[in-house]
Amino acid sequence: MSEKPVTSLAVVPSSADFLEQARKISDALNIQLLEPGSKPEQLQSFLMVLSCSAQGLQLQQTGPKAPGPVFVDFVSGAVAHRRKFGGGIGQQIAKAVGIKSGVRPYIADVTAGLGKDAFVLATLGCEITLVERSPVVAMLLQDGLERGGRDLETAEIIARMSLFRGDGIDWLEKSLDSDESQPDVIYLDPMFPHSKKSAQVKKEMNLFRKLIGDDTDTAKLLEKALKVANNRVVVKRPRKAPIIEGPAPSFALEGKSGRFDIYAIKSF
Ligand SMILES: C[S@@+](CC[C@H](N)C(=O)[O-])C[C@H]1O[C@@H](n2cnc3c(N)ncnc32)[C@H](O)[C@@H]1O
Repeated sequence: MSEKPVTSLAVVPSSADFLEQARKISDALNIQLLEPGSKPEQLQSFLMVLSCSAQGLQLQQTGPKAPGPVFVDFVSGAVAHRRKFGGGIGQQIAKAVGIKSGVRPYIADVTAGLGKDAFVLATLGCEITLVERSPVVAMLLQDGLERGGRDLETAEIIARMSLFRGDGIDWLEKSLDSDESQPDVIYLDPMFPHSKKSAQVKKEMNLFRKLIGDDTDTAKLLEKALKVANNRVVVKRPRKAPIIEGPAPSFALEGKSGRFDIYAIKSF
């Protein structure tokens, strides 16, 4: 059974400098705007708050035992480490999407989340469209893209990433009717219940589950993706998870923590 997503969310600016940004978020998401610099005790009546500060937009669970905030950071931390030392085109994700010498497919990541996988693929040189349907997650992602776009080391990579806020199924349907080129690869990484992952990923996934629940329409997303992709559809799964309901993948690549199911359509 999937958990019910929370609706109890507010936005708080860390100081008056961030009031305008917080007001826009409050209007866009139709959530309560709290006083600048509200104290932790004043936040407790909400399950989560979005905070606007010099550190960027952060989603924070409230309460005494709450884990740290979740936010998008393409510039420093684990993502930057992977950009510098992550193994280039030898990485499993690169093989999964068909990157090889002289081949950089155009990818649509239609379950973009916090954009980590998309950033790896953009770092390797792919143009990538990110589609995210949760308005809160899309806002965190947009904020991270803007900050990454202002940093000299990541600006060129971020320029290859464009965000579309909305449902992946709708985006795929529209792309079938459009004159624009269709993606070579469609990448899916839907929420999977009960995943056993590292502490960091677990923190994000737990928060996501509270915010948006499980993704229950994945079979439909796969079905549409198979109609749109020029070359392949790639699905990221926990290592022991069953395949998505529907046709069997052509092959799978197993990594340390996960698996990529590849539905091949046409070779590159
Ligand atoms: C597990 S997270 C993806 C994590 C991402 N691969 C990353 O590296 O950060 C799944 C995300 O897909 C989004 N999602 C699921 N189904 C979707 C759909 N049909 N359209 C758009 N977004 C979808 C969810 O809202 C959630 O944010």
